[in-house]
Amino acid sequence: MGTSPDEEVLTLRAQLQRWAAAYFELDAPVVPDADYDQAMRRLETLEREFPNLVTSDSPTQRVGSAPLSEFESVEHRLPMLSLDNAFSAEDLRDFDRRVTERLGLLEVTYCCEPKLDGVAVSIVYESGLLVLAATRGDGATGENITSNVRTIRNVPLALKGDHVPPYLEVRGEVVIPRNAFERMNAQARDAGEKVFVNPRNAAAGSLRQLDSRITAKRPLAFTAYSVGVVEGELPASHDAILQALGDFGLPISDYMETVEGVDACERYYQSLAAQRDGLPFDIDGIVFKVNGLQEQERLGFVSRAPRWAIARKFPAQEVSTQLLGVDFQVGRTGAITPVARLEPVFVGGVTVSNATLHNADEIARLGVQVGDTVVVRRAGDVIPQIVSVTESVGSSSAARRAIEFPVRCPDCGSNVHRVEGEAVMRCVGGMSCAAQLKAVIRHFASRKAMDIEGLGDKLIDQLVDDALVTSVADVFRLTKEQLAVLERMGDKSSENVLASIDKAKTTSLPRFIYALGIREVGEATARALAQHFLSLDELLAAPADVLEGVDDVGPVVARHISEFAHDERNRQSISDLLSSGVNWPSVSVVSGEGPLAGTTWVVTGKLESMGRDDAEQRLRALGAKTASSVSAKTSTVLAGPGAGSKRKKAESLGISIMDESEWLVMLREME
Ligand code: IVH
Repeated sequence: MGTSPDEEVLTLRAQLQRWAAAYFELDAPVVPDADYDQAMRRLETLEREFPNLVTSDSPTQRVGSAPLSEFESVEHRLPMLSLDNAFSAEDLRDFDRRVTERLGLLEVTYCCEPKLDGVAVSIVYESGLLVLAATRGDGATGENITSNVRTIRNVPLALKGDHVPPYLEVRGEVVIPRNAFERMNAQARDAGEKVFVNPRNAAAGSLRQLDSRITAKRPLAFTAYSVGVVEGELPASHDAILQALGDFGLPISDYMETVEGVDACERYYQSLAAQRDGLPFDIDGIVFKVNGLQEQERLGFVSRAPRWAIARKFPAQEVSTQLLGVDFQVGRTGAITPVARLEPVFVGGVTVSNATLHNADEIARLGVQVGDTVVVRRAGDVIPQIVSVTESVGSSSAARRAIEFPVRCPDCGSNVHRVEGEAVMRCVGGMSCAAQLKAVIRHFASRKAMDIEGLGDKLIDQLVDDALVTSVADVFRLTKEQLAVLERMGDKSSENVLASIDKAKTTSLPRFIYALGIREVGEATARALAQHFLSLDELLAAPADVLEGVDDVGPVVARHISEFAHDERNRQSISDLLSSGVNWPSVSVVSGEGPLAGTTWVVTGKLESMGRDDAEQRLRALGAKTASSVSAKTSTVLAGPGAGSKRKKAESLGISIMDESEWLVMLREME
């Protein structure tokens, strides 16, 4: 190799520091976690072999990087440490050997837990009340994110029970459950907003918001996994402590298990690894902790991690592959999205050959070119993302080719326009661009819009390609003769489609507004607009400043609505739709105001302090909607004792669940 150990140590440190800064400070990892871990391990090995090379500023001596400056700093009374990693069954056995030898035992009791892939936070309760929450930061000093953490639905603001220690610091991980993440991204996509790369980034970004009202809209969830400073009594083993935290009302992992010996640890690892893809949240490994606190104390710490715990990491869900080329897809608003064509690779259980590149800014940020080796990450069912370009020294520049954005629409050949200050390029073809028209109709017919069953992508493609439909209103003029001759149609399916088109004519004002596909007007905004204006005419006539008075509507959305309303073609299209028979019942005033406006609650089980009806009334008085069944639209389930299937359903959907005592505290604060 020719490199001396001291040179290699220096190179590794510089590399690790750069990667850590990109990861912790910029939220933009430049290498897969696996590469980072490997370099860290190599550095640790070298430092063990050559102790004179250890310096106090080596990345092995500290965790992460300094906090960002905008939040107030919080010094952790006890440092928030990191975990050593094991990458194989053998590493895990080595760990167990060290532990048993030091303790002089034949077998040790371990607590096994999933290693949640989110953001570490510390939450302090004084006399049972939440008084402080902080990020880990560099382990010694974090950021004060109390107002953000208070918005997390499953974090109790007050603990329950008679045995809560007077001072209790709880530590745990904040994540966004996978299904909630997908819903959140789908909404963002509908509204033409930025989508998040993965749940961890979304959780980190949400906690870092200076405006906690934004955080409050994010589906964050907390899981406690340990305690920090405690003044008062707690049990003497890790699993019993977590159980006690659970009794205080704190969320703990359902997957925690206490086992005897390393073989059982290995079985737990295998079993969770097999369930990994189906879990409600992302995990990147399993944490094994010596269960007895006395044993933990005897084992103690090395510089940055406890000797009594280890994280066995899963093989990475990030892989490297080659970028073969870039295709451009035209969306509903004409936005042209670059899609990466990749050398197919197997990652996280599927073969990936495409990934989104979002827009020109993202391409510039990544510095990616055709021919590059890129890191692809796949999380759950999310569209695969290109995380970074692999740092490949000496990659021949001849093989690289810059990604060129088309100057004309790849579908209709119209000009392409980039608005100043926006990352997105758009085809100016409007409804004369077949790709845009197809996307508009897909949106119009979609479940949350006009909900036209049977009008799927394939049929829409044929209708547009055969010029049977040149506007949304044409959908309502289709005849059986036209449909029956199309591929895969026939008499029966034509009749069915026509019946559902007819049924869809009777709709609601919020659905219709959403179906119009106004830029950045998603489902929630459409509902807010309908509630505010109560009629379409009022909405279309509203000046920008009035529009901005509506919940959720800022200057940009207001401008999009005004522009839409002033475009003669849109007016024509709306009047065509109305004359084809589209109609909705007139809207009555719905409360829609108060601290719980925009949320939907389900009350279940038997409450101790009041009847269910009263509870629902109290919620509605605070602006909430109440519903009788749990669905993806439910924000929170208030579950009294005896809550059964609704509670289970909420759990499976990742919806937050509140118990009565937490709820009463919330009421006291809000009413
Ligand atoms: S215990 C001293 N348990 O993993 C031990 N950590 O590298 C402290 N993490 O940033 C950590 N799930 O936020 C522990 N069940 C779990 C965990 C967990 C995720 C995170 C933690 C920390 C990182 C450690």
